[in-house]
Amino acid sequence: MPVERDPHLPRDAGRRDVLKASVTAGGAAAVAPLLSPTAAGAKPDRAAAPNAVAVTLRVNGEDRRLTLDPRTTLLDALREHLQLTGSKKGCGLGQCGACTVLLDGKRVKACLWLAALAEGREITTIEGLGRGDQLHPLQAAFIERDAFQCGYCTSGQIMAGVACIAEGHAGSAQEIREWMSGNICRCGAYDHIVAAIHDTARKAPQGG
Ligand code: FES
Ligand code: FES
Repeated sequence: MPVERDPHLPRDAGRRDVLKASVTAGGAAAVAPLLSPTAAGAKPDRAAAPNAVAVTLRVNGEDRRLTLDPRTTLLDALREHLQLTGSKKGCGLGQCGACTVLLDGKRVKACLWLAALAEGREITTIEGLGRGDQLHPLQAAFIERDAFQCGYCTSGQIMAGVACIAEGHAGSAQEIREWMSGNICRCGAYDHIVAAIHDTARKAPQGG
């Protein structure tokens, strides 16, 4: 599936500019309408159920107060209530990894977590991975290695890759493949994804 050009990019932007946009929050928003019906029109926070509960989520260093149906998943809270659409919904069943975020630094599949149970934890999404305009080293490595095609799995791959490195599971291509096996890429960009993670791990073996 072709990647829709980000309308914010200049018309003469090269492929690398498009790729860079795709590994950051803005780029995720650019490709999201193509790939996910829910991403195009994220809904405002609302008390949808009579038994709605107040939940404060700490996301990317900020406290975000929400009123949620207690059955709301962390992924839906991020995407539908906080408009953080970089985390993608693929299967919704814990099988594809597109929704991977960090919870207290550990990778989790946000589609399997209830948002209310993430209260008091430090949540990091792809939008909070870089520092301002500075990409996280793994985001930069994904661009350098052309580690994606459609980009749908990419935010999950990067978040899982960050955790994989921090866990010390990125010592070899074989090890990375094993520990990244919970993240599916339907475009088959695995060789490039593994290379990007391996590059980053070699430069910063302590992860992060
Ligand atoms: Fe969460 Fe697929 S959407 S694992
Ligand atoms: Fe398309 Fe991974 S780049 S699913």
